[in-house]
Amino acid sequence: MDVVVLLGAPGAGKGTTAIRMVDRLGCRHLSTGQMLRSRAARGTPDGKQAEALVAKGELVPDALIAGMVSEQLAEGDAELYLLDGFPRTVRQAERLAGVLETQRASLRMVVLLDVPKAVLARRLSGRLVCSDCGMVYHVETLKPEREGVCDRCGATLVTRRDDQPETVLRRLDVYEERTAPLIAWYETRGLLKRVDGDRSPDEVVVALAETIEKGP
Ligand code: AP5
Repeated sequence: MDVVVLLGAPGAGKGTTAIRMVDRLGCRHLSTGQMLRSRAARGTPDGKQAEALVAKGELVPDALIAGMVSEQLAEGDAELYLLDGFPRTVRQAERLAGVLETQRASLRMVVLLDVPKAVLARRLSGRLVCSDCGMVYHVETLKPEREGVCDRCGATLVTRRDDQPETVLRRLDVYEERTAPLIAWYETRGLLKRVDGDRSPDEVVVALAETIEKGP
């Protein structure tokens, strides 16, 4: 079992790209943000605990996240997993290494979706997400066929609570402080690849698929 980590700032297009990669590569997409939102919607105790932190743009505790990812990877029902949103700190990267060792899985590569900062806030300010399947849209650039309705599953589209302007700014700061150091961390380990994320979703998908297929 192999794992590819998708690294990138909020709004870089990790979710948009990963969902499309599932059809293209037959991989499994694990989004920690989506897992937290689904737990919060179901009202589980850990989901409720995480909800307040997510709404403020803060990171939730490492142990909760690592436990969720480890549980999903333990199912072992895919040859390739695409991790979106984890790891987000050096400590989480160390935990991931431990989880992969236990499960005899390997980290094939870490792909940074590179998008200029000015583009990120614009993307997040118009984002809509499906309340059921997590498919991602944008009010101007990636509209659904029917307003307010998911093309894929027909559920209602909503604005994420953490897409309020002040929370977006906090999330971008948290990314710079806590997650961006992972770029150098993985680069020194020879695992980092970069993909230009500032082009159409289809072009990003093609570039990412080529990068993954080419291997480390
Ligand atoms: P999470 O859901 O992971 O949010 P994020 O990392 O901030 O990333 P986003 O989902 O905002 O952006 P994205 O890169 O997926 O972009 P998207 O494809 O949606 O996490 C949410 C929260 O959960 C965190 O803040 C934290 O509190 C908590 N959390 C999660 N993981 C954690 C962890 N490991 N540790 C601790 N806490 C954790 O696209 C954005 C917009 O751009 C959309 O409107 C889309 O339509 C548009 N778009 C995308 N690609 C393109 C393109 N190529 N061209 C034009 N528009 C595009």
